[in-house]
Amino acid sequence: MLTHAITPDPRYQFAAEVRAGLTKNPQKELPSKYLYDDVGSALFEVISVLPEYGLTRADERLLRRHAYEIVDQLPRPVIVAELGSGSGKKTRWILEALCSRQRTYYCPIEISRTALAMCERELRDLESISIVGFEREYLDGLLEVAARREQDEHLLVLFLGSTIGNFDRPAGTKFVREVRRILQPGDALLLGTDLLKPIPELIQAYDDPLGVTSAFNLNLLARINRELDADFNLQRFKHEARFNPEARSVEMHLSSTRKQTVSIPAADLSVSFDEGETIWTESSHKYSRHEILQLALATGFRCQAQWIDDKWPFAENLLIAE
Ligand SMILES: C[S@@+](CC[C@H](N)C(=O)[O-])C[C@H]1O[C@@H](n2cnc3c(N)ncnc32)[C@H](O)[C@@H]1O
Repeated sequence: MLTHAITPDPRYQFAAEVRAGLTKNPQKELPSKYLYDDVGSALFEVISVLPEYGLTRADERLLRRHAYEIVDQLPRPVIVAELGSGSGKKTRWILEALCSRQRTYYCPIEISRTALAMCERELRDLESISIVGFEREYLDGLLEVAARREQDEHLLVLFLGSTIGNFDRPAGTKFVREVRRILQPGDALLLGTDLLKPIPELIQAYDDPLGVTSAFNLNLLARINRELDADFNLQRFKHEARFNPEARSVEMHLSSTRKQTVSIPAADLSVSFDEGETIWTESSHKYSRHEILQLALATGFRCQAQWIDDKWPFAENLLIAE
């Protein structure tokens, strides 16, 4: 796999965003994209097989069952760009269906080098595939893929796993509109969205009894220690998952178990925490199926088809650019 690497200094960028997030008042924050370093990407793979986290299995079931039906609704020829591919395991079903009809160019776009490497290992055995990975942020990567396509080629953009839920609703709409701007009429976006379900089920999915999600969340502080020479004591923070009814999202926080001060030399920052004060690290917004039809209309797409899982409410939505 060819990999195009990020060019700006990532450590400097990380330090700047940590500084900006931890000096926010009253709610300290850290961007969720930094959850995914080597350790975080490996832990996410474990989360995806936990019994409490039904989301990945639902997404996978829908892709496995409907891959040929999905592919039949796409124009030809098509090249595939996947935003935040992770390990690419579920993508295999779509790529297999596509490869059975044409040689397929697949471009995973990932901020995590580890995830890109896993993705290549996972999918390289497919016949008739060329994989070119982009170690980039979503839209930068998508612009590059779009610029490389031939005139007669359409684009299929995959945004699976309900990763769109990490944006709040206005930001999610803006993001899909930006994706649409890069596309041409007839191009497609296959969007996975987790649907609202009872709150206890949602909380368990983000706070499993084995503590894997807790480790995934705490690893963000460990990463700041490793990469920015900080002195977070991981014993003094605990993972929390909360449902925010107004936003219809599950929020992950790291709560300080005591009054303390942490030093982050590479971000030129010393930051104080009160007992019980939290750092907000991720949101996972939940949708209704109807909302996705509205999202499509508001962003220059039409929803061509929607498939819903029968075990874990989750929708796979095929949006076509108007
Ligand atoms: C929730 S995981 C989902 C992975 C996979 N799509 C799935 O459904 O299992 C989100 C993935 O997006 C990547 N990611 C997060 N923010 C990103 C960004 N701004 N640009 C590119 N990739 C990003 C992460 O590294 C991670 O692998």
